[in-house]
Amino acid sequence: MTAMTDLRTGRPVHRPLTDQHLLVVGQTGSGKTTTALALLDQLQQTDQTAIVFDPTGEYAQLPHAVTYRLGGNAYLEAGRLDPGELQAVLGLDLPERLERQMSRAMNALRIQRNLLQQPGPLKKVGRPLARYQSLLNQLSAWSRDYAIAELPQQLLEEAVIPFADDQADYSLCGQTYDREQIRHDWGLLTDLRERLASPAFRDLFDTQGHPGMAKTELGFVLKLFLQHRSSHRTLVIDLSLLRRYERQQGALLSELFKQVLNNRLARRDQPQPAVKIVLDEAHRYLPAADQELSHNGIFQLLREGRKVNLQLLLTTQSPLDLPARLRSQFGRALVHRLSSGDELAALPVVPKLSTASTLATGEALLLAVGEADQLVRVQKPRW
Ligand SMILES: Nc1ncnc2c1ncn2[C@@H]1O[C@H](COP(=O)(O)OP(=O)(O)OP(=O)(O)O)[C@@H](O)[C@H]1O
Ligand SMILES: [Mg+2]
Repeated sequence: MTAMTDLRTGRPVHRPLTDQHLLVVGQTGSGKTTTALALLDQLQQTDQTAIVFDPTGEYAQLPHAVTYRLGGNAYLEAGRLDPGELQAVLGLDLPERLERQMSRAMNALRIQRNLLQQPGPLKKVGRPLARYQSLLNQLSAWSRDYAIAELPQQLLEEAVIPFADDQADYSLCGQTYDREQIRHDWGLLTDLRERLASPAFRDLFDTQGHPGMAKTELGFVLKLFLQHRSSHRTLVIDLSLLRRYERQQGALLSELFKQVLNNRLARRDQPQPAVKIVLDEAHRYLPAADQELSHNGIFQLLREGRKVNLQLLLTTQSPLDLPARLRSQFGRALVHRLSSGDELAALPVVPKLSTASTLATGEALLLAVGEADQLVRVQKPRW
């Protein structure tokens, strides 16, 4: 059964919809989520893989899907974040000097956990530089993990310097703490410590461990689906707990989309069957301004996903919710009821038919570059 029929002729629509990025827009209650569900139903019938980012928990009703709830039974590995990403997730904006120091601190903690297998921060006072350098060289991609809660303490260790007099020994990492600098940075270090200890961060990154509770690292699950090693074909990532973390959710989604894209880019030499990515209510996670887009994972996936066979289905209430540069990545749109002329004019493909404001729930205008507009009715999945 096809997901939609032509509104005039009643015939099934056989035009492919999910073989490129698809933008689904329409007023609240006009049928966007139902359309995404209908398309997912169709993908399941043809054994195609899809990963759904679900802001509200509405996709839990999809049969034959595996669902993980971020902050519930799934967490993110903090070790995957670089200093810039970590700051975005924590809502911090550190000066560049401290950001570089943070990158050094992360490596020191990686050594401490993976090579020295010691708890706590890695002490740098009196440590021979040459030996430290050789430990750094031994760090590899698998030793990415580190004790993130120790980061503020490790930053103090990064502020060690040689003595200022003839006792100075430049073959050591340092001999004493640069107390001036630490005093100067103290406020920022306190911010970092408190944000790392916040319930939001602890839940999403599972920094405290989880005795007696089975939690899964989301990056691992994503990899299974992206590399087609899962027997299931639909993965639903329930983001409904993120609503409590208004400020962090955009940065987190950006991070997840980067993981998806990078996973694919890293294996470009191998055949990569198509994977459809669904993001409902995308405006919640996207920056409003064009300037902030280039570092955004969602935008990066839109721009680079094609070459690694990733297609994005994105829904939002109004095209005006999305930065113009992002909208222009779509060659196809499915427009549910939409009343304002400004909104219609902002669509990536401007409709020739003027019926968008009178569409009933579940009806839509199918627009594609270089093709005639088509009025369609979406069939609500039987389940
Ligand atoms: N194609 C359809 N056939 C029958 N009923 C539909 C169809 N599409 C939507 N509906 C019904 O309309 C209501 C709203 O649909 P839906 O949740 O899909 O809208 P939405 O655009 O995602 O809304 P929101 O912006 O609030 O998320 C639901 O009760 C749904 O069952
Ligand atoms: Mg919806």
